[in-house]
Amino acid sequence: MGTTMKKTIVLLPGDGIGPEVTRAAAAVLRESAQEFNHQFDFMEFPIGGAAIDAAGTPLPNKTLDACRKADAIFLGAVGGPKWDALPVGKRPETGLLDLRKGLGLYVNVRPVKLLEPLRGISPLKADRLGDLDLEIVRELAGGMYFGERGNTTEKGVERAWDTESYSTPEIERIATFAYTRAENRSRRLCSVDKANVLTSSQLWRRTVSAMSAVYTAVKLEHMYVDNAAMQLTLRPSQFDVMLSSNMFGDILSDAAAALVGSIGLIPSASFGSSAPLFEPIHGSAPSLTGTDSANPIGSILSATMMLRDAFGLSLEADWVEQSLNRVLAGGYRTPDITEPGARAVGGSVFTEVLREEMQRTFEHAERYGWGV
Ligand code: IPM
Ligand code: MG
Repeated sequence: MGTTMKKTIVLLPGDGIGPEVTRAAAAVLRESAQEFNHQFDFMEFPIGGAAIDAAGTPLPNKTLDACRKADAIFLGAVGGPKWDALPVGKRPETGLLDLRKGLGLYVNVRPVKLLEPLRGISPLKADRLGDLDLEIVRELAGGMYFGERGNTTEKGVERAWDTESYSTPEIERIATFAYTRAENRSRRLCSVDKANVLTSSQLWRRTVSAMSAVYTAVKLEHMYVDNAAMQLTLRPSQFDVMLSSNMFGDILSDAAAALVGSIGLIPSASFGSSAPLFEPIHGSAPSLTGTDSANPIGSILSATMMLRDAFGLSLEADWVEQSLNRVLAGGYRTPDITEPGARAVGGSVFTEVLREEMQRTFEHAERYGWGV
């Protein structure tokens, strides 16, 4: 067995179902540490609405400081009706955006992969679905999310604006990541933009194109975002790595998530100049809060991304994913992915069943064709 690894993990449960799905991720990480003899030290801090209530701000300095010192960060979700009336800049979401910005996280990867036992719950017919396995690489620190904005009232008419702006270095650094990711997958990169209308997209397209001279093994394609949305829905298996701006990536990743059956299934990882951040892409789902019906899978897969991409613990990550597949093959389903004849369970029971399956897989490594 490999050497023991010692890591500090900051947990940011946040709002709504955030705390429940964070518990699921932490349970999986704890189990990995125990079986593989690692030491993971967890520290928990408030963010979002919870932090507004506790400290008057969505990203308290203590939270940001702890994240700066961590080896990896896990975030549940932020936002909720309680804080909906607050203006942009003071909302729970600001906590997450300031965290991404404050940590220099400019890369966001969202893998959208069909889990074989869940093929039946996709809204797409089998022949259209194919072997859906793609990754959305979303720029995370620029674009309209962070551009100049404002509002005025002139002669009684209100006006508000947000601006989309990208510089060549900003495009190059995210494209470098996407090209490299594509090199290590099926070597196809689709860059998504709206270059038929937006100047910023024209620079985007030109910059990404110029870089293809360096990444000669990668087949580059460009697509307008409206067409990309349609192609995703019609034949998602044509895509390998999709590269996009902050705003387009936000939209496309929710659309892509629907194809595998539930937004509750999709994980994400963000990278930049400091500790990486892992979070499921679903939101705080206020209507599900307290009902134990949130799907923990997006969160659990975010934990496996942490194991694999932050700590280099591929074996541990494979082990969790294989165990998860068997739990799903055994028919266990949270309400969002239920099917006739399924074993309907809440999120906490699902996580517990997974933990037991992980232990079984560990003990019977040979039987499952999986080994240390
Ligand atoms: C996401 C979310 C966030 C975003 C919100 C909560 C600020 O929708 O991670 O996709 O828009 O980036
Ligand atoms: Mg989103």
